[in-house]
Amino acid sequence: MTILGVNARANSLCTAHKPDHFDLERIVRPNILSLQPYHTVRDDFQVNVLLDANENSYGPMLGEPSELAARMDLHRYPSPDLMGTRHAITQLRGMPDDAFTFLGVGSDEVIDLLFRCFARPGHDKVLICPPTYPMYKVSAAVNDVGLVSVPLILDGASFAVDVPKVLEVLRTDPSIKMVFLCSPGNPTGSLLSRESVKAVLDCPDYHGLVVVDEAYIDFPLEEQAMGLRYVGEPVSAVDLVPSYANLVVSQTLSKSFGLAGVRLGVAFAQPPTIQIMNNTKAPYSISAPSAYFAAQALSAEGIAKMRACTRTIIENRRQLIEALGGVPNLGRVLGNNDANFVLVQVLRDGEPSSERASDIYQVMAQEHGLMVRNRSAELGCAGCLRISVGTPEENARAVALLTQLLGEA
Ligand SMILES: Cc1ncc(COP(=O)(O)O)c(C=O)c1O
Repeated sequence: MTILGVNARANSLCTAHKPDHFDLERIVRPNILSLQPYHTVRDDFQVNVLLDANENSYGPMLGEPSELAARMDLHRYPSPDLMGTRHAITQLRGMPDDAFTFLGVGSDEVIDLLFRCFARPGHDKVLICPPTYPMYKVSAAVNDVGLVSVPLILDGASFAVDVPKVLEVLRTDPSIKMVFLCSPGNPTGSLLSRESVKAVLDCPDYHGLVVVDEAYIDFPLEEQAMGLRYVGEPVSAVDLVPSYANLVVSQTLSKSFGLAGVRLGVAFAQPPTIQIMNNTKAPYSISAPSAYFAAQALSAEGIAKMRACTRTIIENRRQLIEALGGVPNLGRVLGNNDANFVLVQVLRDGEPSSERASDIYQVMAQEHGLMVRNRSAELGCAGCLRISVGTPEENARAVALLTQLLGEA
C-alpha cells in the first residue's frame, strides 16, 4: 500500500528523506493509510452554473449584507486553493511547493489531526517536554493516546530539551509515535537549540515523527532580522523540512499576524505526510471568511504590517521586562523571552510562591478586570504568572496593578 494522492513531482523536490530508517507508511494508522484523497469535481471542469453541491443559488441570507461579505462567495463551499492562502504561506516560509503545506483550523487542529493520523488509540504514546503547551496533553487524552513526559531543563534562566534523557526514552519505548517540541515554548518563551531538534530528528532508534510547534516563531525571526539576537543562526526548523521526512513544523496566524479569531494554522512537512493529513481532514474545514482574511494577511502589505508590529511588540516586551524589574516581590523573569509574553515569578518572603501567584491572578481578574495567566502549577514554573505583551498602556496598567498588589503586606 502506498500513500494515496501523493504528488510525485512535488515529492521529488525533497533534497533527502532523512533519516534512512524512517518509514512513514509504518507509522500511519492502517485505517488512515487506506483513505482516498478528497476530490472536488469542480477542479475538473470550467462551468458557470453550479448545481452540484446543494448550495443556495440565491446567495447568503444575511441580516445586513455587506460589500465585504459579497467578496467571499459565502453561499459556495470554499475553493480548495483557499484564495491563494496555501501558496502565499508556502512562499513566505520558503517551501519548495504548495504540496509541503497543510492548512488547518488553527494549529490546534493540526495537533489533533496528527494524533488521529499517527497514534493508535489505546496503543501508542507521544513524548512531550513540560512545561509546555497544554493542548498536546488534551489531544492525547481525547485520542486515548499515552503521554510520556521528559521535562525541559533550566539552563540558566532559559529552558532547554534534556536531549540525553529524550534519546534514552525513545530508545527504550517503541510505542512513542510523536515527539512534540515547542519552540519558542509556551509558557517558557525559550527557543530550542537547533542541535537539540536535530538530535531528536537523527535519533537512530526512533521511528516516529518530530513535531516542532513554532506558533511564536516570528518573534525570534524578527529579532534576528533586527540584528538583536540569533544573528547568523537558523531560528526556525522549516528549512529542515525538505531533507527530513520525519519532521512536521506547525505555525499559526494567531500570534504575530494578530488573527487568533480567524483560526488558521499551518503544518509544513514532506508531501507524503501532508497528503496523509489532507486525506484525513474534513474537506471544507477552513471557512471562506478565514481564507479571505488569511489571504489579506499574507499579501505583501499584510506581511510588512506583521513585521512592523512584531518589532513594536519586541520593544514593548523589553520595556515590560524592565518595568517588572522594579515591582516589589516579583522574582526572576524565566525563559528566554523569545515570544510575545513574559513568565515572571511572584515571591513571598523571597521565595517563589504559587499560592500568592494564584491569589494575585484572581484579584487582578476579579477586582481589577485585568487578566494574566496563572502558570504556577506547571512543572518548573513555581509562582509564575505569564503576562502577554500588550500595548504600552496595557503593560503599564499591569505593572501598576502588580506594584499595588505586591507592595501590600
Ligand atoms: C505553542 C502553541 N501552539 C499552538 C497554539 C494554538 O494556536 P492556534 O490559535 O493556531 O490554534 C498556541 C496558542 O496559544 C500555542 O501557544
